[in-house]
Amino acid sequence: MKGVVFTEFIEMVESQFGDEVLEQIIEKANLPHNAEYTAVGSYPHEELVSLVLELSTESNVPVPDLLKAYGKHFFGILGKSYASMISDVKDGFELFQKLENYIHVEVKKLYPEAELPKFDTEWEGDSLVMYYQSSRKLGDFAHGLIEGCLEHFDQQASITQHPLNKDGTRVKFTLTPH
Ligand code: HEM
Repeated sequence: MKGVVFTEFIEMVESQFGDEVLEQIIEKANLPHNAEYTAVGSYPHEELVSLVLELSTESNVPVPDLLKAYGKHFFGILGKSYASMISDVKDGFELFQKLENYIHVEVKKLYPEAELPKFDTEWEGDSLVMYYQSSRKLGDFAHGLIEGCLEHFDQQASITQHPLNKDGTRVKFTLTPH
């Protein structure tokens, strides 16, 4: 997983939970890189999961809520860093449909080592359905990114998240505009 996902997480923990909590979770997560991440590096996604688990224990906030909150925050970073990639996109629903075959494809060109999920989309009446698939099991992070993206485009929609298997590698999202 790209270093920027780690560095932004560290910054969010620092600003929202403070230095002490950050130091504590880094110590407890027992990380090979000792959390000395750089934005341009790449690190095993399991290290992020360990940090989130420790933060959950420390803060009493459930892991899915933390991943969602972080996903929402992270879209804000993506929206700024890759503004040119989404400058022609008129809204979140268009972006969700372009994610698999355009946006993440461009990301992969920039960073061949990036590990990206697979998204299939289809319409069910007025609702856009997104099928998430990834061995990294980051459906809650995806949920947060969806929220962040809708906020970015100042759009409102209800989001339902439905697991398609037990191990979390496949998740169905139904987005209904209102
Ligand atoms: C400006 C638009 C976007 C850009 C530039 C972008 C780029 C990226 C990058 C750089 C990563 C990290 C890859 C790695 O660590 O190896 C990533 C991961 C991810 N992206 Fe996107 N992304 C965008 C929008 C979205 C949206 C809207 C969603 C959700 C619908 C999404 C879902 C994900 C997920 C879930 C991951 C984590 C990897 C996994 O689950 O396997 N992305 N994306």
